[in-house]
Amino acid sequence: MRILIFGENGQVARCLIEEAPAHEGVGHEAAAMGRGAADLESPGAATAAVEGFAPDAVINAAAYTAVDKAEDDKAAAHRLNAAATGEIAAAANAAGAVFIHLSTDYVFDGTADAPYREDDAVNPLNVYGATKQAGEDAALDAHPDSVVIRTSWVFSEHGGNFVKTMLRLGEARDALTIVDDQIGGPTYARDIARAALTIAAKKRRGAPGNGLYHFQGAPAVSWAGFAEKIFEVAGLACAVAPIPTTDYPTPAQRPLRTVLDCARIERDFGVAQPDWRLGLRQTLTALKDADPQA
Ligand SMILES: NC(=O)c1ccc[n+]([C@@H]2O[C@H](COP(=O)([O-])OP(=O)(O)OC[C@H]3O[C@@H](n4cnc5c(N)ncnc54)[C@H](OP(=O)(O)O)[C@@H]3O)[C@@H](O)[C@H]2O)c1
Repeated sequence: MRILIFGENGQVARCLIEEAPAHEGVGHEAAAMGRGAADLESPGAATAAVEGFAPDAVINAAAYTAVDKAEDDKAAAHRLNAAATGEIAAAANAAGAVFIHLSTDYVFDGTADAPYREDDAVNPLNVYGATKQAGEDAALDAHPDSVVIRTSWVFSEHGGNFVKTMLRLGEARDALTIVDDQIGGPTYARDIARAALTIAAKKRRGAPGNGLYHFQGAPAVSWAGFAEKIFEVAGLACAVAPIPTTDYPTPAQRPLRTVLDCARIERDFGVAQPDWRLGLRQTLTALKDADPQA
């Protein structure tokens, strides 16, 4: 299968590039488009990239992901997360390619007690969430057979993320205050990449599922609980003092509880909910391998 990936240096994009050549024993031919090859802020760039590569599947792992910055940069966030997503989806549809797009738990307002299902009402609390929700609609309008995977709290050995921030701070400090009333699911970028590749391959072979899917690491945890686990696994003696969100104001409001029901993706595509604690161990091992002195 020829796979075109949008996003080159992002967490999920890097994992896709690493996983594609040997995924499930099949050698996929994958090309990744970074900002240099296809600047998604520039209309027409995505279309040209798809036409040039003639893919069997397109996976969009590019996005405007700076949640707080997006509050003051709404136009750019919308261009990337909504307009460019629609353009990529339309180009994939015209090419007859499978289209997999990534979205977020931040489309929800976090007030539900039960895990969110795909058909639950969305109500984003911040600009990032609103532009990602517009992107979901744009993808499904332009390519009705798209698969849109909502995921959350992405971490990996690549790029910047909460795990790497905690490792850095945990080395330098004895104690940290961390928010304890936002509950969600950390998700290892490599698990997302593998899920996307599995779904792309199944859809290429004619699997019927499409639309919205939830994919999130389990078990649900707070940011403070996640930090405690990171320090435990890394062997860092850094204490975590839990604080409420109200004591840690940010430009963008965050939903408090975004636990996702991940049954649909397993039922339609056989993709099981991953345990983020395994992904955390893999991340720490990869970071050690890359820098044995650390
Ligand atoms: N990170 C999370 O916690 C999280 C949570 C829920 C959902 N998601 C979703 O999961 C997906 C992947 O997230 P991630 O964490 O892998 O993202 P990431 O590491 O922030 O990577 C995003 C990628 O988008 C690229 N990009 C940004 N602007 C671009 C432009 N104008 N043209 C071309 N490429 C551009 C970036 O390129 P540069 O490297 O050149 O900047 C980067 O490679 C996204 O759809 C995101 O919304 C992420």
